[in-house]
Amino acid sequence: MMWATWKCVLVVLGLASAQRSIPTACEEDACRCDSFTRLICHCTGDYQELTLRSDGAYRIPTMVTAVIVNGCDRVTFLSETVRNLIQLRTIQIANVNNVVINERALAWSPRDNEMNPGLRIMISNSTISEISSHGVQGRINSIIISDSYINNLKPFAFSSLTGVSNIELTNNVFDNVEIQAFKKFTTSNFLIRGGSAKVLPSRFLSDVEVTDLLRIDGVTVVCLSSLTFLVSLPKRVLIENNNIDILEGDCFRVTSRGPITFRNNTVGTIRKGAFYGFAASPEVFSVTGHQELLIDNNTVTNITPTSLMYNRTTLSLRIDGLNLKSTCDCDLAEGWQSVLSEHGGIINCWYDLEEHFVSIPTYVDSRCGKFKQTFWIFVIVGVIIVLLAAAVVIFFIVKKENEKKKKIQIVMPDGKTYRETEFHIVVERAELLTTDL
Ligand SMILES: *[C@@H]1O[C@H](CO)[C@@H](O)[C@H](O)[C@H]1NC(C)=O
Ligand SMILES: *[C@@H]1O[C@H](CO)[C@@H](O)[C@H](O)[C@H]1NC(C)=O
Ligand SMILES: *[C@@H]1O[C@H](CO)[C@@H](O)[C@H](O)[C@H]1NC(C)=O
Ligand SMILES: *[C@@H]1O[C@H](CO)[C@@H](O)[C@H](O)[C@H]1NC(C)=O
Repeated sequence: MMWATWKCVLVVLGLASAQRSIPTACEEDACRCDSFTRLICHCTGDYQELTLRSDGAYRIPTMVTAVIVNGCDRVTFLSETVRNLIQLRTIQIANVNNVVINERALAWSPRDNEMNPGLRIMISNSTISEISSHGVQGRINSIIISDSYINNLKPFAFSSLTGVSNIELTNNVFDNVEIQAFKKFTTSNFLIRGGSAKVLPSRFLSDVEVTDLLRIDGVTVVCLSSLTFLVSLPKRVLIENNNIDILEGDCFRVTSRGPITFRNNTVGTIRKGAFYGFAASPEVFSVTGHQELLIDNNTVTNITPTSLMYNRTTLSLRIDGLNLKSTCDCDLAEGWQSVLSEHGGIINCWYDLEEHFVSIPTYVDSRCGKFKQTFWIFVIVGVIIVLLAAAVVIFFIVKKENEKKKKIQIVMPDGKTYRETEFHIVVERAELLTTDL
């Protein structure tokens, strides 16, 4: 009994001394821990790679409140790196050439979940080589990624998050984004601003509740696939200032609690039903009625009226500005007539002659309609007739002039030849000589 107790104490002591001798991340060449128990790593010179882990040598000490990494060539977060760091509040990465976040590396779920302030994750001016599936999970306050190159986002990269207030992705280049990169969580705001992407795939945002603002602003994107945004609950949806090559049909499945604005975008092709998935949530609809889908000041190259199909049950459509980047003609105008007569608004087409946009009704007034078209035929035929008549008249005048100018030669009885330009015919009347003497 006694021996057993001693053995136990010895084991505990042994463990403690063993632990003391194992270096932590604070002793990494590039890192130090400050008096606020923050782990601060700044790669310089020879030490360009940093691997962050939760156990073994160079593990992150349990009481760390922040992990701050700056200027490394490569930073890898191994699986479960932050799981047990209950004091952790901030992860900040800047100026790193390769950031790798392995599966569940940033999964953080303290037991009294909602009570705990969540993590703030900030990554700036870096290349994110990969965020693996379930890389970021749990009690996360905000995720702010800016001025970065995002090479690979695996499915469920950001998933099962709780208590999120902000996700902001600013001025990033998205390279390879897989489906369901953002999956199943609630956030107050979700913003993508600036930067570019090739293709944002189906279910880029999947089962995401955005309770305040969903905003996509100033992004250059080649293709927004069908069902790219599966989002519910936003009070405000703003899709502004973007440059989009292709907006696929049913791109948005967004059930909103407020107005939806699609403003000042330049789009190559808007396919049939691209906006059809926008709807007002039933709760809001039952209280405040139709929510507004506003299409304002957009320029679109390929679009047909079916591109503007919308959920009539719960939304009202307002078209404040739509520039069709195709040359005005009466058929085109005819096609948009029903949209215009139903919704009013301003739809313009490109008027080649004067090289600016004109509103379709203005164009129709001056160029189309049965009378307008026959009128122009009359004008053209009239001009042709006048030209022909003028040609005929000129022909005869010229001919006559030439005839007048023809020199007339007269041979006189004295044998000389006289040239005359004019001669008079003297009519002589031969009168009979009456010699009745
Ligand atoms: C961005 O990071 C690179 C190194 O990856 C660095 O050279 C550059 O100065 C950083 N830019 C800013 C604005 O911090
Ligand atoms: C409209 O979008 C373009 C980019 O496509 C931007 O440069 C411009 O400032 C925007 N205009 C307004 C009024 O926001
Ligand atoms: C309308 O769109 C054009 C072209 O994108 C842009 O230059 C202009 O600033 C926009 N105006 C407003 C009021 O958004
Ligand atoms: C319109 O939206 C409501 C509410 O989300 C939905 O129940 C309904 O099926 C939608 N209607 C159409 C035609 O898609």
